[in-house]
Amino acid sequence: MSFKNKVVIVTGASSGIGAATAIAFAKEGANVVLVGRNETKLAKTEAKCAENGKQEGTLVIKADVSKSNDAKRIIYETIGKFDKLDILVNNAGIVGITTVMDDNTMEEFDRIMNTNLRAVVHLTNLAASYLIKTKGNIVNISSVAGQVVLEGASAYMTSKAGLDHYSRGAAKEFAKFGVRVNVISPGPVITDILETLPVDLPAQAMRPTPLNRISDAEEIANLVLYLSSDKAIGITGSIFVTDNGMLLN
Ligand SMILES: NC(=O)c1ccc[n+]([C@@H]2O[C@H](COP(=O)([O-])OP(=O)(O)OC[C@H]3O[C@@H](n4cnc5c(N)ncnc54)[C@H](OP(=O)(O)O)[C@@H]3O)[C@@H](O)[C@H]2O)c1
Repeated sequence: MSFKNKVVIVTGASSGIGAATAIAFAKEGANVVLVGRNETKLAKTEAKCAENGKQEGTLVIKADVSKSNDAKRIIYETIGKFDKLDILVNNAGIVGITTVMDDNTMEEFDRIMNTNLRAVVHLTNLAASYLIKTKGNIVNISSVAGQVVLEGASAYMTSKAGLDHYSRGAAKEFAKFGVRVNVISPGPVITDILETLPVDLPAQAMRPTPLNRISDAEEIANLVLYLSSDKAIGITGSIFVTDNGMLLN
């Protein structure tokens, strides 16, 4: 799959699934825009993109996707450097614990929703006219948590269920312009996010899967590349689960 001369934004490219996705796109010749807040980790991804393919074609944007001005800057700087946008991968995400009775329930709910859902809506809105020009596409990284119940993770579950349905709506609206929108819903993947999980959530999230394995970030990156390539020309509004059979439990 060649992505030569394609311009791809990957949010959350400083770590995990986003970093693996950015590197995979660079290997296939894409110009990749790496978005995240942690400059040290972004620099590591940038170096791996350079090792594997593009150097001058990589743009690093230190930005917090949940902040409106940063979201505007992501699109503005991308168009400023590359003059177009082909693919938007909305991957940046956080987890957090909220129970129905916590004092900080609303703060946690807002924090998670702002990053996992509002930022996607905003970036989609800002990118829309550019994606229509290139007949590009969007891949949103959701989670099987949007389809199951994990105790204490109601805000995260809600953000991902909302992302799934938002993506279907966006896919329908964009279809008449030839722009596709798809979702990938991983089960557990070995990344830094697992370190941020509250104490009792790993036991629920990491219980043995039917395939008795946990995914690595590269597996998810491979699916992102497939869905954003012309091989997936007829696929839009779809949710691809890659969870080692977790939803079968
Ligand atoms: N790992 C799993 O088991 C799993 C399972 C299902 C779904 N997912 C989803 O996969 C996506 C990627 O997660 P991951 O597992 O790769 O975790 P990760 O290694 O912790 O990476 C998360 C990425 O999101 C970025 N990010 C978070 N908040 C941000 C913000 N406000 N602005 C900009 N960037 C932000 C982080 O960058 P900075 O810290 O540099 O800002 C980091 O690059 C998430 O949407 C997550 O919900 C993960």
